[in-house]
Amino acid sequence: MKIIIAKNYEEASKQAAEIVLEVVKKKPDATLGLATGTTPLKLYEELCEDYQKNQTSWKDIKSYNLDEYVGLAPDHPQSYHKFMNDHLFSHIDIKDENTHVPSGLGDPEDVCDKYNKMLEENPRDLQILGIGSNGHIGFNEPGTDFDSVTHLMPLKESTILDNAHLFFNDDIDAVPKASITMGIKNIMDAKEILVMAFGTRKQKVVKKLIDGEITNEYPVTILNKHPNVTLIVDEEAGALIK
Ligand code: GLP
Repeated sequence: MKIIIAKNYEEASKQAAEIVLEVVKKKPDATLGLATGTTPLKLYEELCEDYQKNQTSWKDIKSYNLDEYVGLAPDHPQSYHKFMNDHLFSHIDIKDENTHVPSGLGDPEDVCDKYNKMLEENPRDLQILGIGSNGHIGFNEPGTDFDSVTHLMPLKESTILDNAHLFFNDDIDAVPKASITMGIKNIMDAKEILVMAFGTRKQKVVKKLIDGEITNEYPVTILNKHPNVTLIVDEEAGALIK
C-alpha cells in the first residue's frame, strides 16, 4: 500500500484529485467507483474546479457509486443520488446515463441483483473510498463477509449516529436504518483503489488498516490484500502511523 500523509484536508484532496484526473486523462472511457460522505467532498470540488479551468472531459467516463440509503428517493435531500448530482455530476460533462447509484426504492433483492450484474460487466479502473469510523467501507459494516457482493445492509447504531449530522436538525430518527451497498468483493475487484481518511475521528481505523491484521471486524483491513492501493490521510488521521 502506498501511504501519503498530507498536511491537511485541502492538500490531501488536491493529491487525490491528481490521482483521479490521471485516470480520466489516460483513459477517457474509464469506469470509476465513487463514494459519498464528507471525506470526498473537497476532492469533488477539486475535480469540478479542474473542469472549469481545464475542461478535462468526462463525457465517456462511467461511474458506479458504492451505496444508497434504503427508502430514499433519488431527489430526497439526503439521498446519495442527490449528493452526487449536487457535488459532482451537475458540474462536469459526465452523461446522466453513464452514472449509476443503487436505487433506494424498489425490491432490495431485485435492486441488488441488477446492480451487481452491472458491476460484473463494468469492472472499475479506480475505486474511491472513504472509511467509516467503525472501519466500514461502502456500507459494509463490521462482520460483513469479504466475498460479499451488492447486498442489503442494516446499519449499525454507530453509523446512524455518525451520519445524523447530514440530516435536518441532526435528527437520528430521520437516518434510514438500512442501505444497499456494493459488497466487499465488488470493491476489491477494482484495478486500483484510492482510500482517504481525514480528522482525528479516523485515527483508530487508519492504524488498524496500517497494522496489517486482516479482520472483518474492521472491513477496511481487507485492502491489505489488494495489489494497488493508495491511502491518503491528513496529519490528524495519520497521527498514530509510525
Ligand atoms: C458513510 C458512507 C461511506 C463513507 C463513510 C464515512 O456511511 N456510506 O461510503 O466512506 O460513511 O463518512 P465520512 O466521509 O462522512 O466520514
